[in-house]
This record gives sequence, C-alpha cells and structure tokens, in this order.
Amino acid sequence: MGSELELNYLLNHPKADKATSDVNLETIERRLFTPKKIKIFTFGYSSLKDQPQYGFSNDKEAEKVLPDIITNPVQKLVPGKGLSEDQKQKFSKKRNIGVVFSGGPAPGGHNVIAGLFDEAKKYNSKSKLFGFLLGSDGLIESRYKEITQELVDNHRNLGGFSMIQTGRAKIDSKRKMNLSLETCMNLELDSLVVIGGDDSNTNAAFLAQHFKDSGIMVIGVPKTIDGDIQVKTDEGDVLCATSFGFHSAARSFAQNISNLANDGMSTVKYWHICKVMGRVASHLTLETALQTHANLSLIGEELADYIDYDRLEKAKESSIVDYNAYGITLRHLSRVICDIILRRAAVGKNYGIMIIPEGILEFINEIQVFIIKLNKIIADYNNIHDLDFHQSFPGLNEKLDYLRQISQGMIDKTSFPIWNLRDDELFNQLPSFFREGLLVERDLHGNFQFSQVKTEKIILNMVKEYLGVLKEQGVYKIGIKKNYYQSFMEAFNMDPDTYGAAIFKNSKSEFLLVKESIISKKTLKQALVSNGLLDTEDVIPRPIIEIFNKSEPNFKTQTHFYGYDGRGSEPSHFDCNYTYNLGMTSFHLIAGNATGQMAAIKNLEQDFDQWEPVGIPIAKLMHLEERKGKLELVIEKSLVDLNSNSFRVYKALRRKWEAADFGPDHYRRPGPVQFSGKTEEDRPITLALNSIKANSR
Ligand code: FBP
Repeated sequence: MGSELELNYLLNHPKADKATSDVNLETIERRLFTPKKIKIFTFGYSSLKDQPQYGFSNDKEAEKVLPDIITNPVQKLVPGKGLSEDQKQKFSKKRNIGVVFSGGPAPGGHNVIAGLFDEAKKYNSKSKLFGFLLGSDGLIESRYKEITQELVDNHRNLGGFSMIQTGRAKIDSKRKMNLSLETCMNLELDSLVVIGGDDSNTNAAFLAQHFKDSGIMVIGVPKTIDGDIQVKTDEGDVLCATSFGFHSAARSFAQNISNLANDGMSTVKYWHICKVMGRVASHLTLETALQTHANLSLIGEELADYIDYDRLEKAKESSIVDYNAYGITLRHLSRVICDIILRRAAVGKNYGIMIIPEGILEFINEIQVFIIKLNKIIADYNNIHDLDFHQSFPGLNEKLDYLRQISQGMIDKTSFPIWNLRDDELFNQLPSFFREGLLVERDLHGNFQFSQVKTEKIILNMVKEYLGVLKEQGVYKIGIKKNYYQSFMEAFNMDPDTYGAAIFKNSKSEFLLVKESIISKKTLKQALVSNGLLDTEDVIPRPIIEIFNKSEPNFKTQTHFYGYDGRGSEPSHFDCNYTYNLGMTSFHLIAGNATGQMAAIKNLEQDFDQWEPVGIPIAKLMHLEERKGKLELVIEKSLVDLNSNSFRVYKALRRKWEAADFGPDHYRRPGPVQFSGKTEEDRPITLALNSIKANSR
C-alpha cells in the first residue's frame, strides 16, 4: 500500500481543486449556452400590431375595476420597418426597468431576466435593470439590487430564482400599491416586469391599472411549474399553451419516476407511490404519466367527472336518484386503485408505479366540501375578529373545539350553520394528521396549501385497509407462473397437476391463482384433505407451503413527493429557449408602450420556427373567484381538458401501461433534463399531442 498523501498537498492539487469546485463543467456549459432567438429578435426594431381577431368576453367586475387596461387588444410583435427616426429614438431610449419574481420558483426564470437584460442593453447600453428582492415584499419595501452583466452571466440557463429570490407576498391593499408605486418612481422606472403565476399576473394587472397615470408600464410573464396558465381565446385559439417551468419540472419528476421504475422492475417488491406537485390542476401528472408510462396515474379532473353507475342502478330500483353517485369519494378511489393492484398481482407483478397529483383532494367529493367550508370559516374568523385563526387556535384540539362550537350553534346562530353536527362528526372520523392537513394555514392569496397535506398517506391507508378485506375474501393473490410451479413441484417428485387442481382456480392459465377459499394454512390443508391428497393428521408438504407463501400478497410501498426538487430543476432546452424569448418579448412590449399585457409565445406547441411573441391583455383573463371568504378578481386557472388530445391519448393507452397482463411493463425512460438536444427537450408531450390537427403530420 502506498503512503498516505499529505492533506494539504491533496487539497491544493489542481485535480482535487477542479473536482471539488462549486462550479462544475455542467454549470460552465449551461452558462455558456446561447438560447435560440425568434426571428423577430434578430431584426432591428419591432412594433406592436393589434390582433382584433382574438376575442375574449370580459368579466363585468374587471371592466369596472380595470377600466384602463380592459380594452387592451392582443398584440403581435412585427418587424418595426416603417418606424420614423423619432419612434426609433423612443424605442431605444435609456430605460430603467424593474423586475420581480413572485411565487414558487420555476426553471427558466433567470433566462427571462437574461433575455430582458440583453435586449434592453442591445438597444441602449445605458439602460438599467433592477431586481426587487424576495418577491413583492422587495417592491413594497424598496429592497432591490441592480442587475449587472456579471450577475446575469452567472445565472444564464440555471434553475431556481436565487439571483433575486422570490416570495409569496400579495400587493392587496391601496397602501401596498402606493408603496410599490413610490419605489418605482424613486428608481425612475419606466416599466416593471412581474414574473409570476396566476395570482402574480393578477397583481400585475392591478399594478398596471394603479400605475397608469404615472406612465410606468407593467408587464406580466407566465411562470409556474403547475402549467395552469394557459390562454385560449373565445374561439379556441391557443395564445399561450403553457407557463414556463412546466416542462422542466415534469421532466425532472419523470426522470426520478423512471428511475424508480428501473428499480421496481429489478426488485419487484414495492409499489412506489409518487405524489407530484401541481396544486389543483393535474397537468404535471398527465405530462409525467406520458413521459414515464407509470402503471397508474390519477387525473383529478377526470375523477371529478366520475359516476358510480352501480350506485345509480341500485337507487333506481327504489325509484330514487342517488346524487352521491356523482363524483368520486375517497372510499371509491381506494377501490379503483386496489383494482389495478389486484390485477397486476394476479400476473405476478406485486409492484408498480403510481402517480398521484397533489391537488387530488380538490376533486374528491367529501374532502372538497370540507376544504370549501374550512376556507370560509377561517376567512370569516379572520375578517370578523381581525385576528389570525391559526394564531388564535394554534393546536389541532383548539381548532377542533372551535369547529365543535360552530356545529353546536354556539357561534354561527343562523338556521343553516356552515359547519353542522354531521360535518363535525364526519370530520372527526378522519385521522388526526389529515384533519391537521385540512386545517393548514391558507397561503397569502387564500389558496389551500395542497403540498402541506399528506394526501398519499390518507389514500394509502384506505388502500391498505381495503386490500386487507380483499385478502380476507381470498381475491387478492399473487399469480404463480405456471412453468415455475411445474418445475418446482417436479423437483420434489410431486405431481403438479394433481396438486394444482386442488389449490388453483385456473390451472390452465399462464399464471396460477390460489383458490379464493384458501386464505390460510388451515384452509389450505382443508383443500388438500378434501381432494384426498392429505390425511387430517398429516402435515402439509413443504413445497405446497412454499407455493402458498409465494401466493400470499404483501403490499409494500415507498412514498415519494416530487415537487420542490422539480421546481428547482435546471431548465430544459425547451424552457431555456422559451424563457429567454419571453424576456425579450417583455422588453419589446415595453418598448412598444404596452401595459397590463402578459408576454407570451404563441405556437409553443409547434416547431421553434413557428413561435410568435405576443402580448395578451391580462384583464381579459380574469374572473371572480372565492378567496378568503370573499369574491375576488383573479386569473382563471386552467385545468386538464378531458377532451384534449393529450388526455384522450393517455386514456386510450393507460390500460396498456397498467401492464396487468403476462407481457412486460411498458415504462418509458425520459432521461435527465438537458439544455440541448431534441425529442424530450423539444416540448412537453402534452403540447405535442394537443397540436395534432386533422390531416396534419
Ligand atoms: P406557483 O403557483 O407560485 O408557481 O407555485 C407552484 C407550486 O410549486 C405548487 O405546485 C405547490 O403547491 C406550491 O407551489 C407550493 O408552494 P410553497 O413554496 O408555498 O410550499
């Protein structure tokens, strides 16, 4: 053995230095990667062309409170060929632009800033970009940093929002609006770019209205891994197919899940239960399902449409309509899951991959009612008492006591209390961790925080309970491969056919299933005795016991939560390009004097050369929604469309992906997120499928 190297020598060795540097080769290459530019950005100037063919029906409330931006049309960027000298000068004047991240991180955010920065500097090297720190709080409290070339270069094509960080604060009062305006005026900003989700773009619209007289323009950028910012016109034209970050997060989840599939196929002993982020909508689950071909993926939006026909039929016999047959219950959901587990087990596959969207609870009847009622109770408490419900009742028992008082009419004295004795009774039947989850603090926008709830645990508990029942009934069994059984028995000089007829219900099948009546060693012995293969005082032959043991299911699970990891992923090639072009689009909207518009790229679902930068009027995307117990104007989240190509393709193929048959599993290997390359990195599969039109290729 060679002598040990001196530690200092080792640490100072160039190889060790390189190997342990914070900045590795991947980072260096990412930083150096140049995203593609949409053609319009390679020309000189641009102008904004109104697109009156894209119509939206306005919300009356939006017309009332956003009068100066509600009339904005959709605008398209076109080459500014005919611009006069004066217009060119105005276009390229020195600008101070503010930028803020808002909400959860999404891969590609840094590239939005890079695109904005590069374009601003291209037209005027004296222009400045200021980043507000920690989200809207930075804007309200005037905390910011100047974004320099070095800062931008250090963050190009890298994930996270660490350059200026982010936060979930909401600019929801006149005071905060005024403070934000003051910050922007003190910095002599001519524009502000808000990079955020539905709630942040809502904020951007209100800021645009509030800033109108000051001349400071406000542009929104559609960010969220959840993929629920999608814009379609009234005629169904898609102007924004998805928000940025969605693709990278889904690809990151998909890679992890596909790794689990590799492990699963090798060890064949666990069901991997993967909860994935996405808040209410199941876009991320659908995309991940298409990327991985997991055995079971639950799409919340589909479950909401569920109809229990058996229940309806039964009710019909008594000439009544059972409204509880519409929509899915937790109990029924556990049955749906068990069905697949059972069918795979029957062909010897006592393992699998299941994807559950974190927002699934929103689509489950009884839980949705609880969420809505609790939202209202918490909001009413906060509004009436001007206190915080969670501070007043910090522990679960205190919260439950308060609910009990409401149910007993001690607080809500109306004839139809929002929380009645039945609610209280049903709620208290839920496990305490789940009650705690449903009572968890709402976020600053009044949203239920799905990621804080152990949804997978509650579903799994019910699944395990029902599997126990099915095991007792003798229907949950592991299929034994016929030729394995035969050679195993022959090795012990026992006749497989004679014993097989006594213990299996399907002795001709490729996978043998132990009879339902055999659920224990005792019942196994009875079967052998009644078939004349054993005397009552004999012991069961060892090989038969071993075969029986192999048929006994043991449902072992591993749970995983994919969320924060994926939203912190490095951006995919698609997101690198998408976001850089969004940043450039934001600059051109500002240079074209637009405000209250969301920067977007039309034709994202097509090849890159079809991409078109547009400005979408945010005010037109708004509708009234219940938040914190009140109706508020917000951008409508888009849910998975059950009539979309992507959902229909998934639905048609999911039976195959269940692989509850004698054949192999059909898992797909999407591989790691990369910043260059084709196929997976080209665009989300959901978008590719949705872009297929009749007679197209
Ligand atoms: P945004 O809507 O702000 O983009 O956030 C998306 C998200 O990642 C959801 O998928 C998830 O439910 C939520 O953020 C979790 O947020 P938090 O950071 O507050 O835990």
